[in-house]
Amino acid sequence: MNEEQRLASQQVKQPKPEKDYSSYFERVVTAAPSLKDAKKRGKEEVKYHKDFAIDEEFLGMGQGRKFYIRTYGCQMNEHDSEVMAGIFTQLGYEPTHLIEEADVVLLNTCAIRENAENKVFGELGFLVKYKRKNPEMLIGVCGCMSQEESVVNKILTTYQHVDMVFGTHNIHRLPHILKEAYMSKEMVIEVWSKEGDVIESLPKQRNGAIKAWVNIMYGCDKFCTYCIVPYTRGKERSRRPDEIIQEVRDLAAQGYQEIMLLGQNVNAYGKDFADIEYRLGDLMDELRKIDIPRIRFTTSHPRDFDDHLIEVLAKKGNLVEHIHLPVQSGSNDILKIMARKYTREHFLDLVRKIKAAIPDVALTTDIIVGYPNETEEQFQETIDLYREVGFETAFTYIYSPREGTPAAKMQDNVPLEVKKERLQRLNAVVEEFSSAALKKYEGEIVEVLVEGSSKKRDDVLAGYTRRNKLVNFAGPQELVGQIVKVKILEAKSYSLRGEFVEIVNRHEVEV
Ligand code: SAH
Ligand code: SF4
Ligand code: F3S
Repeated sequence: MNEEQRLASQQVKQPKPEKDYSSYFERVVTAAPSLKDAKKRGKEEVKYHKDFAIDEEFLGMGQGRKFYIRTYGCQMNEHDSEVMAGIFTQLGYEPTHLIEEADVVLLNTCAIRENAENKVFGELGFLVKYKRKNPEMLIGVCGCMSQEESVVNKILTTYQHVDMVFGTHNIHRLPHILKEAYMSKEMVIEVWSKEGDVIESLPKQRNGAIKAWVNIMYGCDKFCTYCIVPYTRGKERSRRPDEIIQEVRDLAAQGYQEIMLLGQNVNAYGKDFADIEYRLGDLMDELRKIDIPRIRFTTSHPRDFDDHLIEVLAKKGNLVEHIHLPVQSGSNDILKIMARKYTREHFLDLVRKIKAAIPDVALTTDIIVGYPNETEEQFQETIDLYREVGFETAFTYIYSPREGTPAAKMQDNVPLEVKKERLQRLNAVVEEFSSAALKKYEGEIVEVLVEGSSKKRDDVLAGYTRRNKLVNFAGPQELVGQIVKVKILEAKSYSLRGEFVEIVNRHEVEV
């Protein structure tokens, strides 16, 4: 089939593909996703690949070509896009911000909720237009959605202008996948449902020069009953401490001011090491000695948040006073069917310990409303818990069933209207607390890492405090990338407005 026929056939209803994609002789299927395989957690050790390097045969492949990556979802995905941009750059491709200029377009997708997936399908439909204009353009789908069988089926039947589908475990295979796609001109599918390896020395083209993301672990073994991540990201596996420490040191030497350590469940860091007893607290205790002003981490799971970590975070220095601690629900019954493996009491106890050790800590959270069969009383328990903890803000979601997860099979007697109404009520409480949290800063002097100009005005600078509050103030562009003191004049709905006081020359690194 040539390109034109292929685009024309897009409108034709295709037979539903069977699970064994190999019968689809027009596709190059080296590996197809399987949720069943993705669920497995074996005993074999994680394989570490120390020194990733691109084979010489691929170098120069991108000469005179441009790439465009659109990223959906969490910071993990954003960082994966930086790795793919790094690979493209090593292959000789140049980046572009214009789809029409691109020779390769990648959608790095998120599967966490249905609306996240719908956005991607919408975008994929939209891309047909570009493909018609430039049939040579390669379109690829990667990220968490490509790990799902149902998504790959849908792409095969409905989005035949897609040239490549590859998974979260196949990012380092990008050069091979691109080569295959150029040669075959048919859809190339390479999605490993394996539990995952750790690959070091991947190239990275970072998005900024001020803040940097650093993976500390991959995957998730928690299997919360609503969540697709353990299936799309494989088993929990930690990077070795020396690799992380070296990466942070290098970033500090390059002038980065802030590091965000990434993992789906960073508190499980090190649990998988067979040879050493080394956990997140130990890692943070090392990282705080590095000469870089700020270190954050996300996301914490309340269950594995141990006392040593709290003790280390209380030493402050470059460890900031902000902890994102998703609670999901305040009801023990709901927490139980979510398989969160902690109770409301355990969570409140943890919060008490954190607050005792770090009295000025800012706590933020994630909450799901409208879990299958959630009652009004159970929902009220979530509101009560929110008030009791006094979270400074939250990401709030209506539960979205994900195919293949246990919760998707549950009967649900809560109408969507009720879920929407609960979300609204919760959001009203979230806003009440976030504006109260901002109000407290009026008249205070805070430290701001200046990241650039405000979205609305060039002469207004914008940055975040240690406790993750957005601050706008007037000042010269030279301040971008610096940490400055700002006096807060006014709390707005979602940000603070202040005036420049002085540059902070040195932060304290306690050793
Ligand atoms: N690893 C992180 C969460 C990553 S997903 C953690 O455990 O904290 C980010 C948030 O998306 C979750 O905290 C949860 O609130 C929300 N989420 C995950 N699956 C969801 C689903 N099926 N429906 C609605 N929200 C969901
Ligand atoms: Fe999903 Fe739970 Fe893992 Fe977070 S801890 S990624 S919510 S399964
Ligand atoms: Fe989405 Fe995957 Fe992140 S599902 S939230 S992109 S781990």
